[in-house]
Amino acid sequence: MCIILFFFLLVTALAKDLHIETIGPFYIGSLSDLVITTTLINRGSTPLVLLRTPGSILFPNVTNNFDIVHEYGGSPRFLGAQMKYSLDILAANNGSFLTLPPNTSLNITHDLSNLYDFSSTGKGIYHVHPARTLYEVSSAGGIPKPFPAGSFSSHSINLIEDVFNFKEARLENKLERRDTVPGDIVTPRFKSCSTEYQDATNDAIPIAKKYVADAVSYLATLDDSTPRFTTWFGDFTTHKYNFIQRNYEMLNATDAYQSWTYDCGCEEGNAGIIAYVYGPEYGTIHLCPGFMAVGPVGTDSRAGSLIHESTHWAKTVNTLDYVYGQEGCKSLAEDDWRKAVRNADTYEYFAENVPELL
Ligand SMILES: *[C@@H]1O[C@H](CO)[C@@H](O)[C@H](O)[C@H]1NC(C)=O
Ligand SMILES: *[C@@H]1O[C@H](CO)[C@@H](O)[C@H](O)[C@H]1NC(C)=O
Ligand SMILES: *[C@@H]1O[C@H](CO)[C@@H](O)[C@H](O)[C@H]1NC(C)=O
Ligand SMILES: *[C@@H]1O[C@H](CO)[C@@H](O)[C@H](O)[C@H]1NC(C)=O
Ligand SMILES: *[C@@H]1O[C@H](CO)[C@@H](O)[C@H](O)[C@H]1NC(C)=O
Repeated sequence: MCIILFFFLLVTALAKDLHIETIGPFYIGSLSDLVITTTLINRGSTPLVLLRTPGSILFPNVTNNFDIVHEYGGSPRFLGAQMKYSLDILAANNGSFLTLPPNTSLNITHDLSNLYDFSSTGKGIYHVHPARTLYEVSSAGGIPKPFPAGSFSSHSINLIEDVFNFKEARLENKLERRDTVPGDIVTPRFKSCSTEYQDATNDAIPIAKKYVADAVSYLATLDDSTPRFTTWFGDFTTHKYNFIQRNYEMLNATDAYQSWTYDCGCEEGNAGIIAYVYGPEYGTIHLCPGFMAVGPVGTDSRAGSLIHESTHWAKTVNTLDYVYGQEGCKSLAEDDWRKAVRNADTYEYFAENVPELL
């Protein structure tokens, strides 16, 4: 019986068997050499239907699709677009499916030139790991499920020069200064936004501000673990608490959200993309079609998405998208709180607080 069960498990495991290999040049003398090719190989016996989610290796654009780590630790700062998306909308849009028949392979190339700031980590060997989270859509439809690849191979690069990156400076220079007189009512600036987007944003801003102000007042009374704190950030420690409190206080500035620029000229055609920002481009939130499709309040809402995006900037919390979704964020809080306190969705869910935790 045991043998039959074991054999059965072996056979079902092999029905789905995806391997991911990463290749590229080893010596990097100039950042324009940083082009990485990822090969997906379906060694299983059934076709795989995977979603091209932003931040995954399947997404054609450069989002943070790789985890790059220096041989002595530390990661270069990612300077590209950090996107929030709706898994449901993406899964309902068959343009975001990637089908890989059995015994076939597919190459996806990402040009990472000038998208990572190596100036703090410097020269040396870096390991380039493809992002691990993939979602599979079953042929029967339904909710996409995280898909575990059978193997992931990383690629090593040797940065032989001290390579610096000027994209950040370019972006900072691009920002227009806004001179405001104290007492003035600051209103958001819109670029390429229809009235529909402007109205939705103007409605979302006070709700986002209220979520942030509520998070600040909640934290002000806290001195021990509570379900709300622990669920999203892990066990209470004073050090961690101080960091999180400082972050929400920063976002609770009087003119936060309403003094920022909302750019609706979204270059990303996919209907599931809600919004994105560039880490160095403080004060500009790019809004995409998914922003209009999600609800105004609560989990993964328009208001919450503004909070999510506002934590990404280097000038605020400097978060990444380690994981998306409530389930993923809860696991991250348990397994790796150091990432949880730097994860954008985590800040959003703590602030939205739906379902309500005390
Ligand atoms: C994709 O969706 C469109 C519209 O729902 C449908 O007409 C088309 O058949 C679908 N294509 C595939 C390959 O499923
Ligand atoms: C995949 O390749 C293996 C080995 O070449 C072969 O035995 C198997 O029948 C192939 N499977 C499919 C579905 O083509
Ligand atoms: C993927 O790229 C590798 C290396 O450039 C090449 O050998 C292989 O044939 C490519 N595979 C496909 C399916 O294009
Ligand atoms: C947060 O912002 C609200 C509204 O601007 C303000 O009333 C409140 O005092 C702020 N809280 C802190 C701790 O600064
Ligand atoms: C994503 O890639 C497409 C096609 O290459 C391009 O047109 C679009 O501008 C890119 N989007 C972003 C946000 O970079």
